[in-house]
Amino acid sequence: MNSNILEVNKLKTTFFSRKTPFNAVDEISFHVAKGETLGIVGESGCGKSVTSLSIMGLVKPPGKVSGDEIKYNGINLLELSKREMRKLRGNEISMIFQEPMTSLNPVYNVGDQIGESLKVHKNLKGKERKEKVVDLLKQVGIPRAEEIYYNYPHQLSGGMRQRIMIAIAMACDPKLIIADEPTTALDVTIQAQILELMKELQAKKGMSMILITHDLGVVSEVCDRLVVMYAGKIVETGAVKDVLSSPSHPYTKGLLASLPKKGHKEKRLNYIPGQVPAPINWGKGCRFSDRCPYVMSKCHTDIPLLTKVKDGQESACWLTVEEGRRAPNDTIEATS
Ligand SMILES: Nc1ncnc2c1ncn2[C@@H]1O[C@H](COP(=O)(O)OP(=O)(O)OP(=O)(O)O)[C@@H](O)[C@H]1O
Ligand code: SF4
Ligand SMILES: [Mg+2]
Repeated sequence: MNSNILEVNKLKTTFFSRKTPFNAVDEISFHVAKGETLGIVGESGCGKSVTSLSIMGLVKPPGKVSGDEIKYNGINLLELSKREMRKLRGNEISMIFQEPMTSLNPVYNVGDQIGESLKVHKNLKGKERKEKVVDLLKQVGIPRAEEIYYNYPHQLSGGMRQRIMIAIAMACDPKLIIADEPTTALDVTIQAQILELMKELQAKKGMSMILITHDLGVVSEVCDRLVVMYAGKIVETGAVKDVLSSPSHPYTKGLLASLPKKGHKEKRLNYIPGQVPAPINWGKGCRFSDRCPYVMSKCHTDIPLLTKVKDGQESACWLTVEEGRRAPNDTIEATS
């Protein structure tokens, strides 16, 4: 039996909006095992949201998703019709977005909004549906659930609204949740409470989760494995404990070095100098080359592929390839 709920193979998402089309997500492959939480990290513009929208079938023209497959529980989502995809979305796979105010409808009370997918996907009606919604409100830690049911989004705090978004995402007991920066808009204390709630619900329901964030601190708290993205590519992947304790890719090292240290008030102590290059400046070589302290001439001309660092950990860097070549047997050959 396949232990992966999701297998993404060579996913490519192209935007045809500019003179030169560009791949916001450029042939990335990763998987999510059943019950695990995969973190996707990277700076702004790396392609994290486009990756999640591509999985959900929510990329609109001039964007186009291609690639080998996005396999959910054995079904290739790239081959489903719009109708089949709608049946899956919000039912089997749900998404939690960053900013609840733009995702919630201001003119409906929150109870009806949570009930909507129960109506569409589970055909629940009247009293039964209301009871389920109140139960969901309680599960996401909303006090006075029967009363809050009739509130409108603007009557609630940011933290409460995000709990409502979680209730909507959880309503149909999805098997996979994709949370795109679910706590970024919240203050630090509320952030911690929401992450704790998500962790708790995930464990209780045995769901799998993709958690998108730019914050490695969040990853270390919540995730089992991690994918690091840079300029539309995956540059490192592995178990969180391995990647965070011995990062291999220079970009991951830079991200870790820029984490705020315990006891310091400043948000960031070190930045990686420079910026993520715009797609028109990606060139042929490693896309991190203009910011990398270890850059070599080869880096400007050839793009490195993901290469094994150790079991389960891979890095797309020429240094990793070179280290692999200097394996014990190679060394003996070279000196004899
Ligand atoms: N609808 C769109 N049309 C054209 N380009 C887009 C569209 N959506 C995203 N892009 C581009 O695709 C690239 C990846 O964007 P994406 O939103 O996935 O980044 P991200 O990693 O989620 O960043 P952030 O951390 O800021 O949310 C960016 O260059 C962005 O400008
Ligand atoms: S391939 Fe070269 S430029 Fe890219 S991360 Fe590795 S050393 Fe740096
Ligand atoms: Mg995003």
